[in-house]
Amino acid sequence: MSATRVLTGITTTGSPHLGNYVGAIRPAIAASRDASVEAYLFLADYHALIKNQNPEEVAQSSREIAATWLALGLDPESTFFYRQSDIPEITELSWVLTCSAAKGLMNRAHAYKAVVQANEASGEDPDFGVTMGLFSYPILMAADILIFNAHQVPVGRDQIQHVEMARDIAQRFNHHYGEIFTLPEAVVDDDVAVLQGLDGRKMSKSYGNTIPLFGTPKQLQKSINKIKTNLLEPGEPKDADDSTVFQVWCAFANDAERESMRQAFADGIAWGEAKKQLFERVNDELAPARGQYEALMANPGEVEAVLQQGAQKLKPKSEALLEQVRHAVGLRAYH
Ligand code: TRP
Repeated sequence: MSATRVLTGITTTGSPHLGNYVGAIRPAIAASRDASVEAYLFLADYHALIKNQNPEEVAQSSREIAATWLALGLDPESTFFYRQSDIPEITELSWVLTCSAAKGLMNRAHAYKAVVQANEASGEDPDFGVTMGLFSYPILMAADILIFNAHQVPVGRDQIQHVEMARDIAQRFNHHYGEIFTLPEAVVDDDVAVLQGLDGRKMSKSYGNTIPLFGTPKQLQKSINKIKTNLLEPGEPKDADDSTVFQVWCAFANDAERESMRQAFADGIAWGEAKKQLFERVNDELAPARGQYEALMANPGEVEAVLQQGAQKLKPKSEALLEQVRHAVGLRAYH
């Protein structure tokens, strides 16, 4: 039996934080080690342009995110690890799909609708700040998925709709032009923790409440010290389930450590002490990768070479698929 093709993209905006690590990077790397799976992991840098038009930031984020995944143990030998912009067939396919995808389908995309609704609420023109990139984003994402005939697409809840749109687009194309695309399926892992940020809300760049993944140990300690707590004194029992310190601890601890911290909370551990232990635990897990990350950031050519190799390995697949698509739609050599 051939392997299940599992594909996921990482939009290259911002700097990786602890929430990305716990919620996406760590589980994806673990999953990529499953021998029955053919893993495709890519840097969605064309998607980054939708959110960020600052060239320096776009370039920097892409480098940081690539180095992060490699530093944390993604194996580019056993995984297809590549950059979207290195596979021109993805954007070519995106156009072909644009010509058969229904506009009405795009009108329903949550990400686009949210912007329109915010504009309407503030009395702006509904299209204010809406680029064609934002509007057509699900089509580019469909091309990402369909170019390699992925079976499964692991995503967060906010992305399920996009995978379903990719499926719709593929179905419609197949119906009209013949069976070319595999119909992808979204896979959502409910066990993966959604990490809380410094203020107790979901850790997210848009809330400005993140703990950076690869700062210095001192910076990590400082960030952890900023986690919001209540005013209970040392010796007063604390509610573990109501605490971000405990929630982050759980994302890094094994069962026994989890229970002993829960007990320490009930016994009235001081916030300073709980944070100190949290820092040590997180730092122990990240320290080896941090060294690796710094080495890779100091040597971008090495990361570049890994990505070039990834693109090279995939070229025959993307070219073959696009050739089939071109032929199917009638873009053919004359003979
Ligand atoms: N849109 C996804 C996100 O913001 C990233 C992404 C781009 C993606 N292309 C993809 C995810 C293809 C899965 C498959 O998280």
